[in-house]
Amino acid sequence: MSKKIKKIGVLTSGGDAPGMNAAIRAVVRACSYKNIECVGIYRGYQGVIEGDFEELTPRSVRNIINKGGTILKSARSKKFRTPEGRKEAYEQLVKAGIDGLILIGGDGTFTGGMIFHKEYGLPCIGIPGTIDNDIAGTSSTIGYDTALNTVVEAIDKIRDTASSHNRLFFVEVMGRDAGDIALYSGIGAGAEEILIPEEDLGLDRLLESLKRSKRSGKSSSIVVVAEGDRIGKNVFELADYVEKNMPEYDVRVSVLGHMQRGGSPSCFDRVLASRLGIKAVDLLIKGESNLMVGLQNNVVRTTDLEYAVKGNRTLNKELLRVGDIVTM
Ligand code: F6P
Repeated sequence: MSKKIKKIGVLTSGGDAPGMNAAIRAVVRACSYKNIECVGIYRGYQGVIEGDFEELTPRSVRNIINKGGTILKSARSKKFRTPEGRKEAYEQLVKAGIDGLILIGGDGTFTGGMIFHKEYGLPCIGIPGTIDNDIAGTSSTIGYDTALNTVVEAIDKIRDTASSHNRLFFVEVMGRDAGDIALYSGIGAGAEEILIPEEDLGLDRLLESLKRSKRSGKSSSIVVVAEGDRIGKNVFELADYVEKNMPEYDVRVSVLGHMQRGGSPSCFDRVLASRLGIKAVDLLIKGESNLMVGLQNNVVRTTDLEYAVKGNRTLNKELLRVGDIVTM
């Protein structure tokens, strides 16, 4: 039978995402509700190795639901990737009496948790927190919705200047190897083309389509490019290529970058984070481990951590079709 959980540690790791604070808040308050101690671990796995812990109470997490970033800070620890680092981490957790971990982050965070669980048997539950939405077993990761709104707002502004100057803009958005941010924001911002790694449009078809739009009377255009898309070597080379082949267009590139990770979380992300945080605590108390909590058909469900990282994620075909039709 699994050991009764008395003290839970919570950490954020990898790229930060808006809504991580709301998740920390939910975990802390769920622990208090269940009369369990909760310890905040600073700087992800690096903080575990260094014993950088602080006891958190419902009052320590007041006024953070609306804040971007993470009060616990985040890091990508190289040392935790080594067996020695993980041994030190385990010793620190034992010393602090922490008998379960809640890991808020993306695939790197979950991979670390799986290895750690395998080696030391410490119960771990994952909460998906990344703007990329590249985790299987949840329709949305915490931070994705906020990032989409940030991107759409930015593209709306770019469109104003693009149309004033009759320019063609390539706007690069984040997402690592996933095209979710590009596809969704591209549809939402009314882009003329959306380039994602999951679909290879090809340079010829891109040119053809941009020329067709020009002929149909468009004087400016926005092409949203996912950072993981490989149609050109990178967005600058792609823009150069198009400019050479379409001298009638004045071409510009805008890389939105890390501003996509900041800002106050949307209501959707705050509620999602609250739901997932509470479920993660419930699961640890029940003696569960090696699972991720996620949203499926608007119901909170669990998935094996391994599936969350390696599982097949297919982009919604209907969305791809919408993207094809409305961008013309
Ligand atoms: O995973 C989140 C993310 O913002 C990706 O979209 C991006 O590729 C990467 O992190 C950037 O990482 P860094 O903060 O190390 O530059």
